[in-house]
Amino acid sequence: MATVLALETSCDESAAAIVRDGAVLAAAVASQVEEHARWGGVVPEIASRRHVEALPGLIDRVCTEAAVPVAVVDAVAATVAPGLVGALLVASVTGRALARLHGRPFLGIHHLEGHLASVQLGEPLPPGPCLVLLVSGGHTELVQVNGPGEYRRLGRSHDDAAGEAFDKAARLLGLGYPGGPAIEAAAQGGDDTRFQLPKGRISRPEGGFHPYDFSFSGLKTALLRQVRTLERPDADGDTEGGAPLPVADLAASFERVVAEVLVERSLRCALDHSLSTLVLVGGVAANRRLRGLMERECRRSGLELRIAPLAYCTDNAAMIGVAACARLSAGLASPLELGVAARLPLERADSLYAPSAVF
Ligand code: KG4
Ligand code: ZN
Repeated sequence: MATVLALETSCDESAAAIVRDGAVLAAAVASQVEEHARWGGVVPEIASRRHVEALPGLIDRVCTEAAVPVAVVDAVAATVAPGLVGALLVASVTGRALARLHGRPFLGIHHLEGHLASVQLGEPLPPGPCLVLLVSGGHTELVQVNGPGEYRRLGRSHDDAAGEAFDKAARLLGLGYPGGPAIEAAAQGGDDTRFQLPKGRISRPEGGFHPYDFSFSGLKTALLRQVRTLERPDADGDTEGGAPLPVADLAASFERVVAEVLVERSLRCALDHSLSTLVLVGGVAANRRLRGLMERECRRSGLELRIAPLAYCTDNAAMIGVAACARLSAGLASPLELGVAARLPLERADSLYAPSAVF
């Protein structure tokens, strides 16, 4: 039995958890969204300062709740890449200091490996390889997982991530931050077919399109144009702009097209690669329309679907702990000198456990 203290500070949520053999004993998240909302997005400097303030209290809380003092954990884990460097450093230095102090191994965890692991906090996965759609504020990727740590990226966004598209669209419509939940709430009762928005595609140099890749920047521009058209005075001098923007219809049309494009390309990728299990994780996986559409379409195509539990879709430390348990049980640990990295492809997550791994 291995008990891990896991820490996460890669973006705007400070989080700590105690995880034992892949099960959560205690987990706590301190969200900073209210503070960043004033600026319309994450301010890295503020994020780092808030992590410094929040993390010690969160560690105390989960240790007390789980009745597991830091001194008795088997390992300490922290997200070390990718993310905001100043933010990542907070969990990294805290985790390494605790590990050193108590003579325990330290595991640097790849944030996306954490998101992948979040699905294990729900129903167990069927055996064999699977296709994961990872949709967050920074990433939109289709990853084939063949076994622990064996990743092959089959699709990705060439510009904005799906969550980023939600955030930008919400700003455009005058909704709050983060944009995903704001769009989802605004779309309630809206007519999702009123506006036809494009499903961005990426051309291949040899002709045709990348079948499993995404582009969300055109969608944002199309939404902006639609808003401008609605605000423009009519030829007869009458302004449609006098009327309030149909925010519910715009939000619903936007949400529909994002959900459809994610579901269509994921299913096509899974079927083309004979992968019978599809997994949906990341902050955007909290979106009910996406979850519902994915469920319906997977059922229709005979695919097994696993979705991360709602509570573990957005950033948390429980998922980092689950990923750490898997690495620990494979006999791995990171060097105590391990640094942090703003970028690191998931396929290179193994490099965090090389004896000479120092960024
Ligand atoms: O995974 P996450 O917490 O952080 C990153 O690793 O980026 O994802 C945050 C993203 C934000 O862009 C947020 O707008 C989006 O996930 N999100 C949602 C919903 N809840 C969060 N997008 C759509 N619908 C939601 N309900
Ligand atoms: Zn995340």
